[in-house]
Amino acid sequence: MYQKYLNRMNTKSAEFQAFPNQIILWYRQNPRELPWRGTTDPYLIWLSEIILQQTRVAQGLPYYYAFAQAYPTVKELALAPESEVLRLWQGLGYYSRARNLHACAKWIWLENGGVFPDTYEQLLLLKGVGSYTAAAIASFAFGEAKAVVDGNVFRVMARYFGLDSDINSSRTKREFEALANQLIPKENPAEFNQAMMDFGSRQCTPKNPSCEVCPLMKTCFAHTHALINQLPVKVNKVKVKDRKLNYLVIKCGSEWVWNKRSSGDIWEGLHDFPLQDKTTNLPAEVAHAKPIPKSYKHLLSHQRLQAEFSEVEIPKENREALYQWCQQEGYFLVAEKEIDELAKPKLIVNFLNDQGI
Ligand code: ADE
Repeated sequence: MYQKYLNRMNTKSAEFQAFPNQIILWYRQNPRELPWRGTTDPYLIWLSEIILQQTRVAQGLPYYYAFAQAYPTVKELALAPESEVLRLWQGLGYYSRARNLHACAKWIWLENGGVFPDTYEQLLLLKGVGSYTAAAIASFAFGEAKAVVDGNVFRVMARYFGLDSDINSSRTKREFEALANQLIPKENPAEFNQAMMDFGSRQCTPKNPSCEVCPLMKTCFAHTHALINQLPVKVNKVKVKDRKLNYLVIKCGSEWVWNKRSSGDIWEGLHDFPLQDKTTNLPAEVAHAKPIPKSYKHLLSHQRLQAEFSEVEIPKENREALYQWCQQEGYFLVAEKEIDELAKPKLIVNFLNDQGI
């Protein structure tokens, strides 16, 4: 295809030398106030970075405020019950992020004397902290010159330097990280990383980037070669599978039958309803379950879900039999007014909202 600039990259070239300062200059002219900027508390920075993994800033902000208020230091988070942490996380998705966050807080508080790891290498050892998050915390909290590299940074570098390696490959990731670590100024790593994050998400956007007002336009490889829409190169997109969920909403008086999801599948530790095809020895009344006409769709990273719900009412005089059945099957009864307390996937919350719960 086009040139592999990487292989003949001249780190002494004017484009290379000018890049960090130009990015930082852009950032200073396009500032964005965010609550985790202006702090060097590694705990708060870590919290914001875990929330912002696969979450947009606008969507993540209310969660950041809620967590920082409920758990202002690692101690409060470490001592919180997991169910409460998951409930606060509700709606953000990827619940393993919340479980890892909690597990790390416990480790830091109970086993590391409350001391937050303070180098890139040490941060990498935390569960749920990959190279991007470790670089963000190391640079923002401790001034370590480690560059963040994610989809936004891939895009900026692929376009500016004309790099056409497949950004889904781990080899490319290593190449880009090595390059970004050459670019990051030792005296100002935090500002460079913040600038790269913002430049990628607000200026050099995937579609319709604002090239006309870009200070890097004249030296940008993609812009000068009309390759903005071809770079970065991304092959082997993840395959998304269709999955149907047939839920039974079993009610008895003001109680509902709930299921807590186990490990090895989506939504570990969250609550939903019994699935028709996974449930045996069903109460006789289920034969007359009433399908709810509306179906619910939800897209996860690897699964396209479609959920159908059928509702069934068990007479109060059969509550004891229902209770026994729940015990056998691993379900439990929850009073309607307590449902709000359960941590639930978004799809289930949407269903409950339509039911007026
Ligand atoms: N995305 C991930 N981390 C971020 C940060 N610190 N600021 C803005 N966007 C981000």
